[in-house]
Amino acid sequence: MRTIATLAAVCAASLAVSSFGRRPQRDRWGRPRIRAAVNLAEVQEAIMSSRKAVMAGAGAMALTALGYRAWYRGVFTGATGPAYASWEDWRGSGLDGNRRPLRAAMLAASPHNTQPWLFEVSTSAITVYADRSRHLGSFDPFRREMHLGLGCAIENLVLAARAFGIATDVQVADGRFGVSPGPQPAIAARIALGADPPFRDPLFDAIPRRRTHRGPYRDRPIAPERLRGLADLVASPTLRVVFLADAVARSEMGALIVEATERIIADPDMSLDSFRWIRTGSRDVLTQRDGVTIDAAGTSRLKTVAAKMLPNPDAATIDRIWLDATRATHTATAPVFGMILVPERLDMANAIAAGRAWQRLHLAATAQGLAAQPLNQPVEVIDRNQMLGRQDEFGSALAIFARESGWEPTFVFRLGYAEREAPHSPRRLLEDVVTTAPLATVGL
Ligand SMILES: Cc1cc2nc3c(=O)[nH]c(=O)nc-3n(C[C@H](O)[C@H](O)[C@H](O)COP(=O)(O)O)c2cc1C
Repeated sequence: MRTIATLAAVCAASLAVSSFGRRPQRDRWGRPRIRAAVNLAEVQEAIMSSRKAVMAGAGAMALTALGYRAWYRGVFTGATGPAYASWEDWRGSGLDGNRRPLRAAMLAASPHNTQPWLFEVSTSAITVYADRSRHLGSFDPFRREMHLGLGCAIENLVLAARAFGIATDVQVADGRFGVSPGPQPAIAARIALGADPPFRDPLFDAIPRRRTHRGPYRDRPIAPERLRGLADLVASPTLRVVFLADAVARSEMGALIVEATERIIADPDMSLDSFRWIRTGSRDVLTQRDGVTIDAAGTSRLKTVAAKMLPNPDAATIDRIWLDATRATHTATAPVFGMILVPERLDMANAIAAGRAWQRLHLAATAQGLAAQPLNQPVEVIDRNQMLGRQDEFGSALAIFARESGWEPTFVFRLGYAEREAPHSPRRLLEDVVTTAPLATVGL
């Protein structure tokens, strides 16, 4: 379009210039030819008006093309539309039967919004499967983060079931993660269902308001008693949360997160495996209903519009934007970092418990007006180093913040008061994640 407009302008301009440069013609007595001068003025005027018309036409075409691209890429709609409908109809109704709490389960956090869950529903139980085809590859080589995501879904499911008068008894599968498992579904938990009087936990109401917040946080500390309350909410004999609020610890943790991000983007496999889950256009979002969207990236409105209007960025561009945001926003505007610790990060039950704890903590933070974002790059690099049998320095660096031996970090995040609202991320349909027939599964 720009080429057409430029071409039209150049043609009109060259026509005009070729007429202007000529001397007026004279008759045989040497007098200027009046008629010719009149003609020249008319021609100039015609050229100017046709030039304006061409420019106006080209401008209109350019605007139409821009408008089409803006519409096609969802510039004005933002995070709205059918891919976001689950955030509205998440309560379901009694007609859903035992499926009802699944609508809340689907709104849980998951790594790169992979939504790696499948649910089999019967009259007496819900079986939660890891849909291991929805993995992050070398970014999550043991599928540890995948199981944290399943823990997040289980936590929402339990809260919603209780609100609807369904009692739950969660039995988590046990085992140790192996490297790069196959894509077949694997059982993560069985949840026996019963009846109980409905109980409305305040965390239940926070389910549709929770979202990962990647934008800037205010320079405002969080009261220590508030942090203690959040840690106590999820602590157990096999799970601990530590918070880092003092300036020195925060600066060291921030530097570690930035360094881990640099390692990830320098690793071509990790970079590509992450990129597969980045959704850049609204068509992508509508058809896939998963992944990390431009809208949820936490950049300014102007940058979001620019990113949507430009041609699809490649993995290297996305990596650069991610690193810049990690340095300038995520770590630079974090009044508090936190870490979830478990005895063994590659133990399945520990991973699911950590996911449940994160979802609970994030819901409680949301209910208190706090924003939160996982920043789990250091643990992702620990896993990658272990997969490749490479020496690792991130484990020992994080252990210093744990302040106690016998615990392994499995999840790093930041908390704070956000400067502005963050949008939701898309979700798949309920039908896509529910199966009525038992699945052919494999063990770990
Ligand atoms: C185990 C796990 C690890 C995650 N790691 C990151 C991370 O490093 N950086 C980030 O911005 N978000 C991270 N997230 C957040 C997900 O990207 C987010 O939950 C997902 O995109 C869905 O968005 P929502 O939480 O707003 O619903 C992580 C989530 C989980 C469960």
